[in-house]
Order: sequence, then structure tokens, then C-alpha cells
Amino acid sequence: MAWLRNALVFVFFYIVAISHSVFGRPATFAEDFKITWAESHIRQLQGGRAIQLVLDQNSGCGFASKRTYLFGRVSMKIKLIPGDSAGTVTAFYMNSNTDAVRDELDFEFLGNRTGQPYTVQTNIFAHGKGDREQRVNLWFDPAADFHTYSILWNHHHIVFYVDDMPIRVYKNSGRVPFPMSQPMGVYSTLWEADDWATRGGLEKINWSKAPFFAYYKDFDIEGCAVPGPANCASNPRNWWEATNYQALNAVEARKYRWVRINHMIYDYCNDKSRYPVAPPECRAGI
Ligand SMILES: *[C@@H]1O[C@H](CO)[C@@H](O)[C@H](O)[C@H]1NC(C)=O
Ligand SMILES: *[C@@H]1O[C@H](CO)[C@@H](O)[C@H](O)[C@H]1NC(C)=O
Repeated sequence: MAWLRNALVFVFFYIVAISHSVFGRPATFAEDFKITWAESHIRQLQGGRAIQLVLDQNSGCGFASKRTYLFGRVSMKIKLIPGDSAGTVTAFYMNSNTDAVRDELDFEFLGNRTGQPYTVQTNIFAHGKGDREQRVNLWFDPAADFHTYSILWNHHHIVFYVDDMPIRVYKNSGRVPFPMSQPMGVYSTLWEADDWATRGGLEKINWSKAPFFAYYKDFDIEGCAVPGPANCASNPRNWWEATNYQALNAVEARKYRWVRINHMIYDYCNDKSRYPVAPPECRAGI
């Protein structure tokens, strides 16, 4: 019966490995996240499976993951502020919190007047240098329903997804700075930034519409938790390092082109006044 015992031992350790090292969609917000700013402005809903963020004239609010992660994929479903959201910013990002050599991957949702499109700004900081903004106007109303926003980060590239549409790819070509060694936390904030957010600051927040609400659910972080097993981040068997995730497949590449052609309104790569010579990562292609 040695084979049976070995099989059981194998299954046992497999389950332990799955549940303790890298995987896991938490049942509740509180399992993976903590409130970092204005406890009074974050409400837990559905027994903690969803949350509501509140912005009013007194305060915005924010939350962060309890742990940090080195490579993986983080995603959540977000329903943004409906109607007149001009001057508000909802951010969802990863950050290494290491001042001068900071790595950071940003989604920023810039509100707009009723009926005008929300803008998603993305940015990437590697080894302390950012200034890599791109902007995409969403092709749907992100306040009408929940949509999934995710960041995939592996040794090959970083991809920002809106549902199943890649809206940004940053390749690790070996010739550009790329986040490789610093674990990052997962953050979100809702705040007022009407000095720049909407039409460059021309559209101000309308406080008579406050309070403003954004909703989050289905928090999912799959990555190498730090502190955690030391060899996790370099393990090529992590699902996010698999061949399928090392580059966009043909269908994704087509979607990405569609987004860029039809919905991209700003790309630092094409901003000659800022960069007379396009930065090296801009020449990498997809
Ligand atoms: C808001 O709407 C205006 C007018 O359609 C558009 O030019 C702009 O890109 C939109 N987004 C922001 C953040 O201003
Ligand atoms: C602000 O909202 C109020 C109430 O809905 C409305 O009457 C007013 O016209 C709005 N102001 C602007 C600048 O849109």
C-alpha cells in the first residue's frame, strides 16, 4: 500500500502548497486588505465581500493589501462613480513604497461630466522613474456596472487589462528598466483632484452631487507573497509565468490594437514636446 500512502501524501502537500503559498481569492475584503485612510468613508457590504468607497467634502479614502507581492496577477471588479464624476479620481495601483527607487503600476480613473467618457490613465514607475502616462477613454459606461480591472506582472511583461481587453503592455526587453526585485503592495484610493483630473482641471467637482460612491468586489491577488517562500518569485511553474502569459496571444493582440486605434487619447511615446526622441521602451512593439 506504499503507493496509496505516497499518493495521499502527495495530494496532501499539493493542497497545502496551493492554499498557503501563492493562490487564493479571499472570501472577504478584510482577509487581504486594510483601510489606510478614513475608516468612516469605507463601508463593508455583503458580509465584507464587497465595499463602498465614499468621497465627500470632508474626506476621500483608501485601502491597501496587508501583504506585498513579487510577480503575479491582481484583479478586482470596480463600479465607478455614476453621473457627474468630474474632478474625482479613483486609483487602483501597486507600489513598492521604496521612495527613490520606487516601482509602481497605476490605474487612475478620471471622472467626467455626465455623458462624457471616463478616462483611464496608466503609468509605470521602474527603479524610481515614472513619466510614462498613457490615456484611454473607456468604450462603455464604467459606472453602469462592475468591470474587471487587472494587472499581470511576470518576468516577461506587465499588462493592464480592462475586462479581457489589454489596454497597455510594458515589455521586459532587457534594455529598459523593469520591476524585478521589489515586492509591491496593492492599493486603492478615491479622492478629489479637480485641479488636473478632468479636461486638465477646467471641469471642477460639483459638491452638490456629493457624496460620491465607488464599489469594489471580487478581490483577487494571485502572486508570491513577501514575506513568503523565498523561491516562489523565480519559480517558472507559477501559472502567470506560463507560455500563454509571456506575450499577448493573437486574439489579445488584435484587441490591444483596437483599443489603441480607437480609444487611446494620449501616449507619452508620441509626445514629441516631452520626448523629442521616444524612450527605448516605446520602440519595443507588442
Ligand atoms: C472628458 O470628456 C471630454 C469631452 O468629451 C474629453 O475630451 C476628455 O478626454 C474626457 N476625460 C477627461 C478626464 O477629461
Ligand atoms: C451642480 O449640480 C447641481 C445639482 O444637480 C446643478 O443644479 C448644477 O447645475 C451643477 N453645476 C454644474 C457646474 O454642473
